[in-house]
Amino acid sequence: MELSGSVAIITGAGGAIGSATARLFAREGATVVLADVRKDEIQEVARQIGEGGGKAAAFMLDVSDEKDVVGLVRSTVDSFGTLDIVVNNAAISMTTPILDIEVSDWDRVLAVNLRGVFLLSREAFRFMKTRRKGKIINMASASAKIGGLVVGAHYAASKAGVICFTKSLALQAAPDGINVNAVCPGPTKTPMTDAWGEKANQEFAAKIPFKRYGEPEEIAEAILFLASDRSRYMTGEILDVNGGLIMD
Ligand SMILES: NC(=O)c1ccc[n+]([C@@H]2O[C@H](COP(=O)([O-])OP(=O)(O)OC[C@H]3O[C@@H](n4cnc5c(N)ncnc54)[C@H](O)[C@@H]3O)[C@@H](O)[C@H]2O)c1
Repeated sequence: MELSGSVAIITGAGGAIGSATARLFAREGATVVLADVRKDEIQEVARQIGEGGGKAAAFMLDVSDEKDVVGLVRSTVDSFGTLDIVVNNAAISMTTPILDIEVSDWDRVLAVNLRGVFLLSREAFRFMKTRRKGKIINMASASAKIGGLVVGAHYAASKAGVICFTKSLALQAAPDGINVNAVCPGPTKTPMTDAWGEKANQEFAAKIPFKRYGEPEEIAEAILFLASDRSRYMTGEILDVNGGLIMD
């Protein structure tokens, strides 16, 4: 098993990609702390993982809230003795055109998608530094590279921020033996893209060399690779998983 004995926090674990990642990590031997603002969803995922013989705990929080995030790391270390892996996956997406974006929506998207990544990365880094090891994986998006047309500009800009933050943290955490990387998915079959509507999804899929969206499990495989020892010499990498949509 790739993650035997590891303790991992996965934010947004009640969602499509987060829950697929939690299940995969648990199958690979990790104890997974499922963190999400939606309590029922993470309790259900934790229950299913437990039934399958895995180890999971649910922790309800808002990733944009500093106290919640500090509490998440403290509770994880108190309960399970360590913290080896963090997957900053929670995010909100809006499709509003720029002329209709309210300042409050702009601020909320940036708070969840970018401040949330900063807060948990900072707290994880603080702990991992004492152990001189750890893996931090952030979720970016293809929209960070090509701009947001279907998704909103606030979402795309937040994800571009995630890419730059990932590289900055990778530089500062490398001397402490901590790997920091991002996964950059293209459109993936989830409620987030279901909300775009069938017509937009068909048109977008036609532009992808593989002519289909990714599955949440296919994104989870890339996250597992970055969480495992197989990627030990990688840091600051932005790993595209997009069926060939962007090749850079
Ligand atoms: N679905 C796609 O096509 C796609 C493409 C590129 C990148 N991504 C990224 O992948 C990640 C997962 O996306 P998904 O499609 O599984 O989305 P999803 O909506 O299914 O899951 C997101 C989860 O984050 C949680 N969340 C939202 N706000 C939160 C907060 N303030 N605090 C804690 N949890 C919060 C939600 O409750 C939800 O469970 C996101 O970072 C997303 O931006 C998705």
